[in-house]
Amino acid sequence: MERTIRAPATLRATVRVPGDKSISHRAAILNALASGPATVHNFLTAEDCLATLDCLRALGVDCRLEEQQAEATMKVEGVGLTGLREPEDVLDARNSGTTMRLLAGLLAGQPFLSLLTGDASLRSRPMARIVTPLREMSAQVWARAGDTCAPLAIRGGRLRGISYRTPVASAQVKSALLLAGLFAQGETTVEEPATSRDHTERMLAAMGADLRREGAAVRLAPPSQPLRPLNLRVPGDLSAAAFWMVAAALHPDAEVSLPGVGLNPTRTGLIEVLHRMGADIEVGEERIVGGEPVADITVRSSSLTGTVVEGGLLPRLIDEVPVLAVAAALARGPTVIRDAAELRVKESDRLATVAAELRRLGARLEERPDGLVIEGGARLRGAAVDSHGDHRLAMALAVAGLLAEGETVVAGSEAAAVSYPGFWRDLEALTSA
Ligand code: S3P
Repeated sequence: MERTIRAPATLRATVRVPGDKSISHRAAILNALASGPATVHNFLTAEDCLATLDCLRALGVDCRLEEQQAEATMKVEGVGLTGLREPEDVLDARNSGTTMRLLAGLLAGQPFLSLLTGDASLRSRPMARIVTPLREMSAQVWARAGDTCAPLAIRGGRLRGISYRTPVASAQVKSALLLAGLFAQGETTVEEPATSRDHTERMLAAMGADLRREGAAVRLAPPSQPLRPLNLRVPGDLSAAAFWMVAAALHPDAEVSLPGVGLNPTRTGLIEVLHRMGADIEVGEERIVGGEPVADITVRSSSLTGTVVEGGLLPRLIDEVPVLAVAAALARGPTVIRDAAELRVKESDRLATVAAELRRLGARLEERPDGLVIEGGARLRGAAVDSHGDHRLAMALAVAGLLAEGETVVAGSEAAAVSYPGFWRDLEALTSA
């Protein structure tokens, strides 16, 4: 489906972004393993999280969604650590890497056979990164294409805890191993080259698991007691807020307020980089919601300068690179993004797709094997662009359209619903306010 975007004269509004995707997945999966019912407010009803709920239902977990006043509440009846049942059919993670990798870890600990598949994008993404360590934990796991790609077949049970250094910083891999570790004999330790998002660790600790952070490593002991159900409110998704933050910072007449956005320090790389580029971002009233730091963010028109983004910052803004590239294209002077090769194995090859689509809008940028070099100072001109079926690219291109002269037509705009089902409605409200 195509959407047409024009630059509005002003961009002044309050946007209540939806619940965090990573936290919503984990709230469903971990509460499914707890010893009783839990209620999760502000659960994200995006395609990815709905895929997780469907998979959990197929494993015998009762999870229900209730939608009231533009907010969904998810009620889940935890079945305990030994209560899952063998699914009768193939589990479909659709477009969701988090669903597939986290559930693979969980299923590696179950004494039954599970088959996991996904859409064409997910079936092309790397799975050896979970197959290898799960086999080391003694799970039987098979995958297509020489054990590198989904579909996956898993016959789990009787795992042993391992100490594993992940070759890439990945919260999905780390979480898969911690979930498997709940069913292992002995401790499971995961060490990463850089810190990835830590929502799984926070939630497991809040549910009573014996989990410790030791420098760059996380150590989990198999639980001696059932996991306690965790009622929570999911904070607003910083990765959704990122689109409006960039739009407001670059638009000449903007003030956008984003209340209740999650500010977990493993996720705040974009705010740091935009601050460094000169963005007027105000972070007010910090508080704790659902065991996570949350604040109200206000972003105003700013004059940005290019920068360098590299190293340990990358995992802390990995999903925000497409929209950061839009900011960089319009900023004064060049921006260099490196150490970002992981972007090649996201929902699309984001280094290639971001470069190709922003070029159509008049941005000057080059692809590198592990990043982008963006010249800056572009005047974007509306054009026909394509999401490549990638939700974050669809939304980043819409933001570029808000900042371009003339009309931008985004093909494949429906992809936004993978993580932000109300995106086009919010864009409409923001531009007609
Ligand atoms: C996620 C982890 C990241 C991120 C993805 C969500 C998660 O992926 O890109 O959107 O919820 O754990 P990787 O773990 O592959 O880096």
